[in-house]
Amino acid sequence: MRGISILLLLLLSAGARLGGAGNSASVNLERPSGSEQQATPSYEVFKNEVEPIFLKRRNGHARCYGCHVLPGRVFRLRALAAGSNGWTEEQSQSNFESVLRVIVPGDPASSRLLLHPLAPEAGGDAFHSGGRQFESQNDPDWRTMARWVKGDSKNSLNDDNTGARTWIYVTNSAADTIDVIDPADNRIVQVIRDIELPHGITFSPDGGRVYVSNEAESVLDVVDRKTGTIVQQVALTARPNNIAITKDGGRVLVGIRAQPGSVEVIDTTSLRRVKDIPVDGSVHNLYVTADGKYAVSGSIENKTASVIDLSRDQLVWEVKFDSGVRPMSFEQNADGSTHRIFVQLSGFNGFAVVDFARRAEVARIKLPDEPGGFGVQEGRLATPSHGIGVSPDGKSLWVNSTVANATFKYSLPDLKLIGYVKLPEVHGIGARPTGAVPEWITFTPDSRFVYVSNSAAQSVSAIDADRMKEVAVIPVGEVPKRINTLFMR
Ligand code: HEC
Repeated sequence: MRGISILLLLLLSAGARLGGAGNSASVNLERPSGSEQQATPSYEVFKNEVEPIFLKRRNGHARCYGCHVLPGRVFRLRALAAGSNGWTEEQSQSNFESVLRVIVPGDPASSRLLLHPLAPEAGGDAFHSGGRQFESQNDPDWRTMARWVKGDSKNSLNDDNTGARTWIYVTNSAADTIDVIDPADNRIVQVIRDIELPHGITFSPDGGRVYVSNEAESVLDVVDRKTGTIVQQVALTARPNNIAITKDGGRVLVGIRAQPGSVEVIDTTSLRRVKDIPVDGSVHNLYVTADGKYAVSGSIENKTASVIDLSRDQLVWEVKFDSGVRPMSFEQNADGSTHRIFVQLSGFNGFAVVDFARRAEVARIKLPDEPGGFGVQEGRLATPSHGIGVSPDGKSLWVNSTVANATFKYSLPDLKLIGYVKLPEVHGIGARPTGAVPEWITFTPDSRFVYVSNSAAQSVSAIDADRMKEVAVIPVGEVPKRINTLFMR
């Protein structure tokens, strides 16, 4: 809804520029003149990212190429040479010239390329003979075209130019993409592609590499951060879930979801699997403590949190619960050692508190009953509370609740409830509003902003932590789950 209203606003202002003529279906076909003229979008990006969309077989749709190869189309693609599956340089140039006629540089909301094949309910034109090629503005191909038109679809994270040092990464668990958000303006600045069912995500300490566990292929994908390209795939023994990296960056630990449960160790120099550490039960979540001394894995099936001593690569102690272990977060002592672990559990709308020194659960905190009422239609009552995080300054604990459709803030170390922030609602046709089904949490390094992945709402919420207010809802890909912050010092 929000995307549409923004689009409408933009359209209204575009209409005003045209002297108020027209509605959303009659878009400015002229290029803006004079001072409004924006730089022409990049030909390179067009060739590498946009043009392939016109040839791509998209499920249930005829290809753009099939029709737009015909003469007489305003948006006209050149015919491929017999036997060729790509355009020549000269043809691409010609396609580029043609596409420039159906866009307004810098302004996707006034560009026919974006509006004509987009479903009317998503803000698109009333009718296109080629059909509703894009059901929503969240379609990854639609977003690629929109970013290109805007002039910011370089798809490379060039911190050398921008000086930026912090990014929020979210894995779209039902897609093959990872969205990268710049927390300075909450825009998507890069999309990492071709990792089907991406799960856990972490970074090398120098920020040069992104590591992603890939459930579809049972590999660890090693990605070059700047270009977003996969440079290596490391084979695992079975389907992975979450991953973590040792403090020195020398080893990536991968939780294996199959029983009996193990943590596989990838050496980051040789990029080989060098060891398997047996733990108690299939691994869902996996963390390395801030002091770098321990890894902690959680098992839903065996209802256990297992603590591995990383100097010996051995399971040293564990805590048993009465239900499955979900996300965890860690609180530090002044010396950096681990004080407490906050543990979410299947079927419990709250979290357990484990004292690390005593190696035992010492408290269980239930979230308030109000607000409530979500999670039934979504079919998510088995995990009423999912996503928990201690802020980097150690002063607060944030806890998602699916039944509340909100994230709660507690102060640390006293665990006093401060309040909650509502998350976006999903408005199904003829149904009462349902929840965002929040999944994981991350923070900006200064603790000022909290980011929550909204798996049912195809979005990430950015929350001002002090004001306790949602400041942005960022559209991302399908079923966003794991979310992590890369901070380069
Ligand atoms: C089944 C044939 C068909 C397919 C497939 C198709 N289109 Fe079209 N498209 C047309 C026709 C015919 C028109 C002109 C009449 C109209 O607007 O319906 C058109 C119009 C357009 C226009 C307005 C400019 C023009 O040439 O008139 C754009 C932009 C456009 N299509 C983009 C796309 C994109 C992008 C895709 C692929 C994602 C696509 N179309 C797929 C048939 C098709």
